[in-house]
Formats: sequence, structure tokens, C-alpha cells
Amino acid sequence: MAGRRVTTFEGLDDADGWADVMSATGASQCGFCTPGIIVRAASLALERRRDAAAVDRMLLAHLCRCTGWQPIREAIVAGPWTSNGGHAGVGRDDDAASVRAEMEGGVGQHVSVAVATGAGGFSDDLAPDDALVALLAADGEWVVGDSLDDARQRSGKVQGRRSTTALSWPVDVPAGSWVRTLETTWVEPGYLEPDASWCAPGGEPSPALGNGGAFGAKVASEVTSVARRLADEHGRPVRALYTREDVVRRGPKRPPLAIAVDADGGGVLRIAHSGDEDPARSVDVARQGLELAGFTLASWHVEVVDVAGPPTSVALRASIVGELLAVAASLDTAPDVVALTSGARAVAEFDGDELVIHVHAGDPLDATVLRSYCTGAAHAALGMVRSEAVALDDIGRPVDLTIRSFGILRAQDTPAIRIEIADADRGGEPLAVSDAVFAAALAAAWRSTSFAPRWPAHRR
Ligand code: FES
Repeated sequence: MAGRRVTTFEGLDDADGWADVMSATGASQCGFCTPGIIVRAASLALERRRDAAAVDRMLLAHLCRCTGWQPIREAIVAGPWTSNGGHAGVGRDDDAASVRAEMEGGVGQHVSVAVATGAGGFSDDLAPDDALVALLAADGEWVVGDSLDDARQRSGKVQGRRSTTALSWPVDVPAGSWVRTLETTWVEPGYLEPDASWCAPGGEPSPALGNGGAFGAKVASEVTSVARRLADEHGRPVRALYTREDVVRRGPKRPPLAIAVDADGGGVLRIAHSGDEDPARSVDVARQGLELAGFTLASWHVEVVDVAGPPTSVALRASIVGELLAVAASLDTAPDVVALTSGARAVAEFDGDELVIHVHAGDPLDATVLRSYCTGAAHAALGMVRSEAVALDDIGRPVDLTIRSFGILRAQDTPAIRIEIADADRGGEPLAVSDAVFAAALAAAWRSTSFAPRWPAHRR
């Protein structure tokens, strides 16, 4: 780096204009990835920003788990708003947009230009400068240091790697005469900001959720109780942080499944279970999913199977239900239709290489935000069917520990996703629709693999 100059987001001449356009196009949800993408986009010559292939190549250095890339591509092509003579904030109702974001994200989430600058309110950004830092050591104990460097040294952590270990599918479809079968494997939620919380002595810990719900994965994160306990013990504010490796090893995963359907619409659902979550929750969710999918409960055998692996949780986005809805949709002809009990509906179908999804979500509140969440849900579904998985070792420990190893679809590998918001429903009660979009996109993506019996279909 000697003799080099480094420009950060704050050093950009048109940082505000870029934040404006990222917000205006729905290219920033939690905002964790946004400043980095802006800095790289700003370095791209104007004609390169108009070249879709160049933009996708540029995005290879980044990862966005929220938006499904499409809004980011649009923002980069549009360029910084100020240089276009406009301003994204004009005419937008941030409160209405935030309500839609919260409905789709499932937890408190706000929408504003500030989010696109990275000021979305991540727990670790809000800790006082003199807070001690707590990290997990290799033996599973929390160690405390005066600084992040100090805590890293005390923890003795070794950087995680990607493995070449083969994938495994922990529960099998039983022998039988089936018209459709599916086995799924371990998938990492892949949220970008590792769990973090800070607490002052005698105080309340900051929530681990930050500006987003991590797809349900942080709801029961241990970092809040750890921050509180260690702050009380040390009489100083403490930041408790997971590393990426901790997130993969200790964070909850959606339960891998085996699903088999017979010619009469009955079947078998086997649900992998690991960790402390009550297995009865899996059965409850499975029953709800079977009913929602239109199957007759009495014709199904539901079984929870204890397996060695990271903790499973049905709190993850549309766990079990999404897969069952996709299986049900697969038994019909295209397009793939998914309806939720609320009346929210998504209809998905490939048009050539483009995935087109019609959504019925009542009053959109903010069509840009609605579209962004739907694109993100579709991107996650495409990844789950095609490429996402985490390999485990012989005793059930994840061995793919880098965010690049989870198989999340890169911009370059993500097909164009078009979200059509049903006009007829504008003005109706707003309905959360991203779970329906996720399930419909699972079905459409699966259909495009000719119903490969295992997800991910493109990895072994
Ligand atoms: S907005 Fe990109 S990771 Fe959340």
C-alpha cells in the first residue's frame, strides 16, 4: 500500500448522490453491503456502468444477501442521483416504505437514504468507543480484550476456510412409489453482518437484529445475553461479537427435509433436527405447511429425525412451509402459484431466462421497496435450488466457513428477475408477500431443473 491513496465512501465527491440512487431503486435494504458497492461503482467509468456484463463483473467482489442484485444493477446504471439533476427523497414517504420493509423483513427495519450510507443502526456501530470486546475462543469460551485486536489474540481464532468436502443430505426419502420426491441439505442464512450486541453494566443489551432480521436467524442470538453478563462482570460496556465462523458453526439453519408425495396426494415428510429447539415446533410448522399447500393432513406421515449438525430452527424464512408449497406447486402445470392464508399471492414462471413473478400484496405502500424484497426472496430461492449448501464433517460440524463458500448466487449467475405488482390490488390492505414469492420462486427454479430430486441441483 506504500505510496497508494485510498478513497473511502466518505471521501467520494458524490457519496450523497450515490446513496440517494441506491435508496431510490431499492438497492439498499439493511445497507451493510451498500457503501462498498458504491465506492466500487463510483470508480467505474460512465460507459462501463452502462454495460450490464461489466457491472456484473464489478459486483463479483461484493455480496448482497438482501436485494437479489437486480435493484443494485439498476442503481449503478442510473448513477449518482445528484449528477442526474434529481433527488431520490422527493416524493417518497419513508414511513410507508419502512412499514413495507418491516412487513417483508419480519422485524423492525427502516428505509431512508441514511441506510444506504451504512448508517442503518448496526449494533456494533453504536457501541461506545471504550467498550471492551468479547469474542468466542476456539474452546467455546468467551474471552474479553481491551480492543478487537486484543480480543482476537486472546481468542486464538484461526481464519475459517472453504472445504472440498462433499455435501450430505441428512434425511432420506423412504422407499416407495412416489410421484415427486425432494431432499434438501444444510443451507447458511448468509446474512452479512455477523451477530453483535453491546451492553453497559446494569443496562439493556442492544438488539442483535440491527437494521434487518437476518431472515429469522438472529431472533434468539446469544450475543445479547453474553454482552449483558460480561458487562456486569467487568463493570464496563462490552461488545459481544460473532465472527463469520461462529455464525456458520453456531447460528441456526433451516431444517433439511425429505419429502415424498404419492399419486393420491399423501406422503411422507421427514424433518432433520439438531440442537435445542423443541422438535414439536417442527411438527406444528409442518402441519401448517401441509394444510396451506392443500395436502390432506391425515394422508401424511410427519417424522422428526435427530441428526448431527448445526442447530436447526423453524424461525428461518418459511422453513418447511416454503419447501412444501414448492412441492405442491410442482404437482401442477406452470406457472407456479403460491397463496398464503392472508390472501397474499405470488405467481412465478420463467420467460426464457428471465424469472417473472406477479405479486398480489394489497397496497404496496412503496412499490420500490416491495419489489426489492421480492427480488431478494426470489434470489434466495434460486440459490437454494441451484447452488447453496454448507458441507459438514463426520461429526456434523460445518466446514465451509467463508461467506463465499455458501453457494449464494453471484450477480453474474443470477438471472434477470422481474417483479410485477398486481395493479388491481392497489389500495387494498397491505399484505406481506415475500414468503409467497420465495416459495413460488423455489417452485419455478425447481421446475427449470426438471424437478431434480435434491437441492442444490447444481452441486455435489
Ligand atoms: S442490502 Fe445488501 S446485504 Fe443487505
